[in-house]
Amino acid sequence: MKRTILITGGAGFIGSHVVRLFVKKYPDYLILNLDKLTYAGNLENLRDIEDRKNYRFIKGDILDTELLLRIFSEYQVSGVIHLAAESHVDRSLHNPDEFAVTNIIGTIRLLKAALTAWHNNFEGKLFYHISTDEVYGSAEEGFFTEETPLDPRSPYSASKASSDHFVRAFNNSYHMPTVISRCSNNYGPYQFPEKLIPLVINNIIHRKPLPVYGKGENIRDWLHVEDHAKAIDAVFHKAKPGSVYNIGGNNELKNIDLVKMLCRIMDKKLSRPEGESAKLITFVKDRPGHDLRYAINPSKIISETGWRPEIEFSQGLESTVDWYLTHAEWLAHVTSGEYLKYYEKMYANR
Ligand code: NAD
Ligand code: TYD
Repeated sequence: MKRTILITGGAGFIGSHVVRLFVKKYPDYLILNLDKLTYAGNLENLRDIEDRKNYRFIKGDILDTELLLRIFSEYQVSGVIHLAAESHVDRSLHNPDEFAVTNIIGTIRLLKAALTAWHNNFEGKLFYHISTDEVYGSAEEGFFTEETPLDPRSPYSASKASSDHFVRAFNNSYHMPTVISRCSNNYGPYQFPEKLIPLVINNIIHRKPLPVYGKGENIRDWLHVEDHAKAIDAVFHKAKPGSVYNIGGNNELKNIDLVKMLCRIMDKKLSRPEGESAKLITFVKDRPGHDLRYAINPSKIISETGWRPEIEFSQGLESTVDWYLTHAEWLAHVTSGEYLKYYEKMYANR
């Protein structure tokens, strides 16, 4: 194998798309997927590639320094793509400390393990940290650029901003080659149905209320997860060490407009009368501290790496709906709570 890349959080939503892309596109890379399999991590997301020769799954915690050092030395890891995190804003409001432990301390442990393993020999090494546009706060006007000051407002974004600072500090203090990318909201297959789009799809299927926070006026900038995975590939291979890239698809939508779009698509797909799903829309109490708008200026990644989004939003949304409708078993598993136990048992026997 030409090199070994450690991907953390590879059993999650975005991580599984990144693992799949790298395993298929780079048969001469060994791809290690280190994942703790929290409620958000599912090995079923990677069924189609789990038998490939250049792929290994390691169940473990990024907080486990001993395990990290063993992985770095056993596999001669030369690149890290770090996605493991607690990722949902609503959960962070209830459990900020859990977010600090995983997202901040976990990232520091991973950075320290890389530093120890690489012994100041940084030739051919890269630590790539996957971050979010939410670290910039709310874009009341204009667009986030890489120079926008960090202004996180939720416990989730505060923990991600803090981890970004530690990554930068390792680059500045120890000269570790690091890269950070900050992406807008992702959508697509395998997203856990606690996030807006899969939650709405799942609730329409079961004719449950569609909770829209506040008046639904908040704006998010949506990018298909496969476009994000390709951007990560471009940044990993082309970025200058020490740099930051914003990733987005110039695709802003008000939440209420997005929910109505989903209702229209689902009525057609489920052969329900037009307007049936929209009756489920329920305006609920707003999320505390709800950021009004996220909007990315992606010109740096486009001009420096040649990446650009390929999936047009209405087509991407329709194919995402199709995916959830044809993966009822996946949806049932991840929402039943039985799922994790099943896989824990399965991997204990390996
Ligand atoms: P996710 O919640 O779907 O997946 C997170 C994964 O990390 C899970 O597989 C989980 O088991 C694993 N994990 C959690 N704690 C761990 C630990 N201590 N050790 C090892 N593994 C652990 O998240 P996602 O939506 O795929 O996001 C992935 C990354 O991308 C996160 O860092 C997130 O901040 C960032 N991001 C997400 C979005 C988005 O729209 N979802 C946008 C921009 C950036
Ligand atoms: P979410 O998918 O949680 O992503 P983020 O908070 O990281 O942007 O939410 C997307 C938007 O949808 C956000 O403005 C909050 C809103 N939202 C709802 O209105 N209802 C819901 O049930 C959820 C989960 C989110």
